[in-house]
Amino acid sequence: MASMSELFWSLIDPWHFMALSASWLPHTVISLLRDRNFRVLLSPSALQDAWFGHFWGWAGPNVKMSAEARVIPLLEGRTSGGQVVAAPTGPGIGGVCIETGAGSGFWVDIFSDRHLKPAAAAGDGSKAASGGARKKVTRVYGVEPNPGQHASLRRKIAEAGLDGVYEIVPVGIEALGQPSAKWDGRVEKESVDCIVSILCLCSIPDPQHNLRELYGYLKKGGRWYVYEHVRTDVNWGMRAYQAFINLFWPQFLGGCQLCRPTEQYLREAGPWAKIDVGQPADEPWHHSVPHVLGVFTK
Ligand SMILES: C[S@@+](CC[C@H](N)C(=O)[O-])C[C@H]1O[C@@H](n2cnc3c(N)ncnc32)[C@H](O)[C@@H]1O
Repeated sequence: MASMSELFWSLIDPWHFMALSASWLPHTVISLLRDRNFRVLLSPSALQDAWFGHFWGWAGPNVKMSAEARVIPLLEGRTSGGQVVAAPTGPGIGGVCIETGAGSGFWVDIFSDRHLKPAAAAGDGSKAASGGARKKVTRVYGVEPNPGQHASLRRKIAEAGLDGVYEIVPVGIEALGQPSAKWDGRVEKESVDCIVSILCLCSIPDPQHNLRELYGYLKKGGRWYVYEHVRTDVNWGMRAYQAFINLFWPQFLGGCQLCRPTEQYLREAGPWAKIDVGQPADEPWHHSVPHVLGVFTK
């Protein structure tokens, strides 16, 4: 049973997060004025992107620190029903990957060989030889449409030793298949081993359509690793409270939507051979930003 104080702080938490984000708006405006970047200042959507980029540059590392205990095991294939477990329940990431919404690059290092056991890092790749469920990552398409995040993303790629492996795709996931003025590459359908989505699917446009499109890039047997916040389904009171917060939340958090049934959209994206996802057990019922953690296998 939650104490009154736990309940209070849990319900207040999203407002606190929005207030922290708001405190970065003056800093963003001042730095744009200093750079005489009136194009961004005068465009509400570009200003919102720049503001979110500044805020996430500060907030992202803290969010990563609290999520790492779930995400690292997830990518090692060590989750079951949304819980982290000791031994792999399936393969970890490896081969050709897409990272959706790479942001400032706080998660880039998870693709590096540093996360492999020695035999797998040498390219052997066999689970028995490596003692782990991950294989070498040979290519990453890091999809990130916000140009304000790219300088930091490039730095993180170099720090992780992933130059030549990790490519920034400077468009939204909806444009992955079509060469454009912004990106002259393309990803072929059914060519990708793994998709990694960490706190991104809340921010993409037309999620049902775009998740179906992304599904098409996975090979048969390919896996989609998911750690996303989703709509609460606890009771009508929490759903109403989350919907009320969501009247303000997207304005403060770069367009992020709190009430997306992302798990359902993923289930409906296409036929899956296996789905092993769930909500982490340590999230209380009064959490207004609950998560889904796990793997969809095509
Ligand atoms: C909450 S941030 C998370 C960033 C990163 N995954 C992390 O956890 O640090 C969501 C990211 O999704 C990106 N995004 C927004 N629209 C997108 C789209 N259409 N396709 C891909 N990414 C998008 C945003 O620019 C933002 O960087």
